[in-house]
Amino acid sequence: MSNEQTTFLMIKPDGVERGLADEIIGRFEGIGLRMLAMWVGKPSLERAEAHYAVHKERPFYPDLIEFITSGTVVAMAWRGEDAIEASRRLIGATNWEDAEPGTIRADFARSIDKNIIHGSDGEDTAAFELGLWFPDGLED
Ligand code: RTP
Ligand code: MG
Repeated sequence: MSNEQTTFLMIKPDGVERGLADEIIGRFEGIGLRMLAMWVGKPSLERAEAHYAVHKERPFYPDLIEFITSGTVVAMAWRGEDAIEASRRLIGATNWEDAEPGTIRADFARSIDKNIIHGSDGEDTAAFELGLWFPDGLED
């Protein structure tokens, strides 16, 4: 049975700064997902706080907001079979030291804070994040 999903992926400021955007996009294309929309820029404080509202009470929240608003991100909508879980698998564990070899974070991240890329972790968060970053909706 097919399970077509749309997920939200965002290359964080460290990934853009290090020139990894092209390589990372290629990896998602390589697992058969396709990009629907892209927004490139420096996130507003308002949008960053909404995006990470679930972590508001966590000790790392202020640093997380400061980091994500520190530079250019590549925010994207991607669609495909099991897109949410497939992309999380390709991204790897939050802490790069726990990430499976060959995942994006194992290959490129060297700290838990600067871990290159964000991916929605479920259907509800994907819907929320896509609405937040692409308020005009998505074609297709
Ligand atoms: P993300 O939301 O960015 O895709 O990452 P994730 O699901 O793998 O991890 P999550 O638990 O949602 O945490 C969001 C981001 O907060 C930072 N973090 N720092 N210092 C810490 O213990 C800690 N824990 C999380 C990371 O940048 C993580 O990606
Ligand atoms: Mg998360």
